[in-house]
Amino acid sequence: MRVDFNVPIKDGKIKDDYKIVAGLSTIRFLLRYNCKVIIATHLGRPDGKKNSEFSLEPVARRLGKILDVKVLFADSCVGFSAGTAVGRIKKGEIVFLENLRFEKGEEKNEIKFAKELASLADIYVNDAFAASHRRHASVSAIKKYLPSYAGLLLGEEVKNLSKIINSKQPLISIIGGSKISTKISFLKRIGRKSFKVLIGGALANNFFVARKFEVGKSLVDKKSVKLARSLKQKNIILPIDVVVSKKSDGKGEVEAKSVSKVNKNETILDIGPRTIRLYADFIKKAQTIIWNGPMGMFEKQSFKHGTLSVARLIASRSRGRAFGVVGGGETITALRMTGMEDYVDWVSTGGGATLSFLSGDKMPGLDKIIKI
Ligand code: 3PG
Repeated sequence: MRVDFNVPIKDGKIKDDYKIVAGLSTIRFLLRYNCKVIIATHLGRPDGKKNSEFSLEPVARRLGKILDVKVLFADSCVGFSAGTAVGRIKKGEIVFLENLRFEKGEEKNEIKFAKELASLADIYVNDAFAASHRRHASVSAIKKYLPSYAGLLLGEEVKNLSKIINSKQPLISIIGGSKISTKISFLKRIGRKSFKVLIGGALANNFFVARKFEVGKSLVDKKSVKLARSLKQKNIILPIDVVVSKKSDGKGEVEAKSVSKVNKNETILDIGPRTIRLYADFIKKAQTIIWNGPMGMFEKQSFKHGTLSVARLIASRSRGRAFGVVGGGETITALRMTGMEDYVDWVSTGGGATLSFLSGDKMPGLDKIIKI
């Protein structure tokens, strides 16, 4: 079973386990039917080399605790250690393989590596929606060598995200984060379908520069400014005011001001209160809402208001008045800070994968196992 348990870990401690919890239904299903379950995932980007910083041992331990079943950790995802671990477990038990990305063959979608991985199992299940936009061996090539199926989470992701593609109008898209390059196809495809696209975060800075506003020392990405200039959609709404600080780490004095009043020595770190009200008016009109990317530096007390207000607004409109979907690692962390994640119709485990799916890009991990 390929899962995406790419969770944030610091000093060996899991900071947020939402991806593990989201993947439990398929694991429980397989255990109930007395399978021996072999779990494989990547963690971070160790670049084909073994690196203890990216070891999955803490994740395997956490899974065992949550499920209260025996989880045997194999310190390599292929070869002797993986084979021995699989040979040792009984039905209804789990082997958790070490990081797939410790092996060069994974990201190269190598046949040899895919075959080795496949040789451990009788059946392949892909429940890693969040990694299914990657053409990597454990989600792509492996399907040639085993009977292959979609996991329950993967199925739910596709079902719920498809509702955005075939959305009820008005559709409001809220996009934050930093680089436009990773969001451009989304802005073009879903942006065009949207009644309004509300922009926030450092992404907005690129639009400000493209429209000749001063952004001071704010984060700007040259390529993204070019892309912002090329986007001619009239439904793109930019912040009308922002929260700035003279220190780029946000430690200095904080001030909310109109976007036309930003000084050269200031850094934009959040959307302002007038923008929150403006965005609230649009969100209240929506029948469908999709949100990806924070509105500002929400990790800091002074700059969390834009992001958390958007999170609360979406949560309060979802499950009834509108169909609300939130996706992306940081975005989910922000939503969880409000404690309102259960009010949202669908919290997608995918970041890049969710945007790729909604943009109509190729999804190698979904090929031949799910109909879209
Ligand atoms: C994610 O966190 O979005 C997925 O785990 C994919 O990770 P990647 O961008 O390193 O491929």
